[in-house]
Amino acid sequence: MATQMKAPPSTKKEIVDVPFNYRSLVEKHSPGGRYIDAQSDVDSPWVPFGDTAAIKHLSFDVRRNLFSNILWVKGPGVVGTHLHRGTITMVVLEGSVRYLEYDWTATPGGLILEVPGESHTLVTEHPDGVKLFGWMEGPIEFYDENAQFIETVDVWWMMNHYEEYCREHGIAINQKLYL
Ligand SMILES: [Fe+2]
Repeated sequence: MATQMKAPPSTKKEIVDVPFNYRSLVEKHSPGGRYIDAQSDVDSPWVPFGDTAAIKHLSFDVRRNLFSNILWVKGPGVVGTHLHRGTITMVVLEGSVRYLEYDWTATPGGLILEVPGESHTLVTEHPDGVKLFGWMEGPIEFYDENAQFIETVDVWWMMNHYEEYCREHGIAINQKLYL
């Protein structure tokens, strides 16, 4: 029977040369892991999302229509009803948030999962609003208050949101954000 691991098998503070048959292919084709600073604006600026919210873009993966960012709603406010066609994974960093459609309120450290086919309306009643870190899969369809479809948000929308702001403010595009 194979060894059943109960804990990390080594705690040695040393790099181990792990055998892997396809190392050269990884080096040739993998976008590579990376660190993106999310506490400052060094790697990515806050880009306004309306008058009362902003998005800090952290990653764009065009192969899977995935994007990562921090959504900051700066005070009590609403992100209007939208319909998901992909899966959303978010962690509350600060403040709190709830949805008109659900009976829970998310607080710092908590995990929010959203699944394809759900439409919902995000509300923060916290005096400081909410900061949400997310790995998100598009598309997301946004509707106005009359249930009129307005636009699809996906990795391309997010990328354009970031790049347009950078262009307008003379900020260099950070290639680290592109997987
Ligand atoms: Fe959502």
